[in-house]
Amino acid sequence: MDKLLITGGRVLSGDVRISGAKNAALPLLVAPLLVDAEVIIGNVPRLQDVSTILKVLGHMGVSVTIRDNGSVSIDASTMTNAEAPYELVRTMRASILVLGPLLARHGEAVVSLPGGCAIGSRPVDQHLKGLEAMGAEIRVENGYVHAKVNGRLKGARLVFDMVTVGGTENILMAATLAEGTTIIENAAREPEIINLAEMLQAMGAQIEGAGTDTIVVHGVQALHGCRHDVIPDRIETGSYLCAGAVTGGRVKTLAADPHQLDVVLLKLQEAGAHINTGPDWIELDMRGQRPKAVSFRTAPHPGFPTDMQAQFMAVNALATGTGTISETIFENRFMHVPELNRMGADIHVDGHTAFVTGVNSLQGAPVMATDLRASMSLVIAALAANGDTLIDRLYHVDRGYERLEEKLTGLGANVRRVSSRDYP
Ligand code: UD1
Repeated sequence: MDKLLITGGRVLSGDVRISGAKNAALPLLVAPLLVDAEVIIGNVPRLQDVSTILKVLGHMGVSVTIRDNGSVSIDASTMTNAEAPYELVRTMRASILVLGPLLARHGEAVVSLPGGCAIGSRPVDQHLKGLEAMGAEIRVENGYVHAKVNGRLKGARLVFDMVTVGGTENILMAATLAEGTTIIENAAREPEIINLAEMLQAMGAQIEGAGTDTIVVHGVQALHGCRHDVIPDRIETGSYLCAGAVTGGRVKTLAADPHQLDVVLLKLQEAGAHINTGPDWIELDMRGQRPKAVSFRTAPHPGFPTDMQAQFMAVNALATGTGTISETIFENRFMHVPELNRMGADIHVDGHTAFVTGVNSLQGAPVMATDLRASMSLVIAALAANGDTLIDRLYHVDRGYERLEEKLTGLGANVRRVSSRDYP
C-alpha cells in the first residue's frame, strides 16, 4: 500500500491546473443510463471514485470508452442488467445514484444499500421516499434495494426533510422521464446540481429552477445523446488555496471557477489572504504572512461546504488566534483532529464544534488518513510542518485528488509517494 512522504517547510508558489469535479462527474456519468444513445462527457478526472462508477456501469453491460483527452463515452443501449452489486457500492456510496435513472428508463433496479461510512451513517431514505412518491414499489431485502415501477414513474411534489445533494440528483434524473411534472422542494443548490441539470437539458429534459431550492421537471417521453463537460472541482481548488495559505505562499489555480467558491474565498480573505480572480482563475497571495484563525459553520450551498472543513482546520491549526468550527452536515467529521493534534496542533472538540488555537509550528509525524477530505487536511498540515510526515491509507486521497504529488511538486512542495514496504 502506498503512503505519502511530505517534508514540510517550503513556501508554495506557482500555478496549478484544477481537474474536473469528482462530485459533478459521478452523476454526469450515470445520467446516460436514461438513454439508448451515446453520451460524451468531457473534463472527467482520473480518480478512484470515477473508476468505481465506470465499473458499476460496466457490470450492467453498458459500454464505456475512456479517451485520452479526458472524455468518456457512455452508451447504455448495450445494457444487460439493472443491478449494482454490494462489492462495488460498498466502496463508494454515490453508486446509489444509478437507482433513479435505472428505474425511470428500465422500470426496475436492484442496487445494494450503501452502508454507513467513516463520516456518519448517511442514510438514503430521502432518495427512496422520493421514488416511492413517484409510484415506485421499493423493497429493501438482504441489504439490497429492489425497486420496480409499472409503466412510467409519475410526477409528484416532493419536499425533502433535509437538503440532500445525492437525493436531489437521483430524483432529478428520475423525473426527466416521468409522466407529468415533478416539483422538488428543499432541493440542494450546489453547482454540481446545476451541472447535472444542464447536461439533462442538453439531452432534451425540461427542467426549471436548478440552482434554487425548488426544481420543476416536466417529464418527457425520451431523451437523446449529448456532449457535456464536467465543471472544475471547487473542493480541489479550495484545497490548493488552503495549501498556499498555510505556507504563507502564492498559489494560482487555473481552469477554476471563482463563482463556485464565494464563501471559501471570503474566509480566505478573512484569514489574511490577498485574492485576485479572473474568469477561470483564482490567485491567493499571503505575502509571506501567517494566516489568521477563522470561524465558521458548515451548511448546504451557498453556505460553507462541509467538504472544505478539514482543510480550513489545518490552516487554523497554524494561524494566529482561535477559530471555532461547527460541523452541521455530518455527525462524525472530525476524525482528522486527533491526527492534527499528534502533529502538535491545539484542537479541542465539544460535540459538533471544534475550537482551534493556532500554534507557532507543527511537527512532522506518522499520521493516518481517515476519509477523503480529512486526508487533505493532513497533507496541508504536513506541507507547513517541520520535518517529515508520513501519511498512511493514501487510498482515501486517491478517491478525490487527481495527480496530487505532481501538482504539489509543481508548486514547490517536497512530496513523494512511497511504498509501505520501504516505510513500514
Ligand atoms: C454529497 C457529496 C459529499 C458532500 C455532501 C454534502 C457527492 C458524491 N458527495 O454527498 O462530498 O460532503 O454531498 O455536501 O456529491 N441524508 C439523510 N437521508 C438521505 C440523504 C442524506 O439523512 O436520504 C443526510 C446525510 O446523512 C447527511 C446530509 O443528509 O447528513 C447531507 O447528505 P447528502 O447531501 O445527501 O450527501 P451526499 O449526496 O451523500
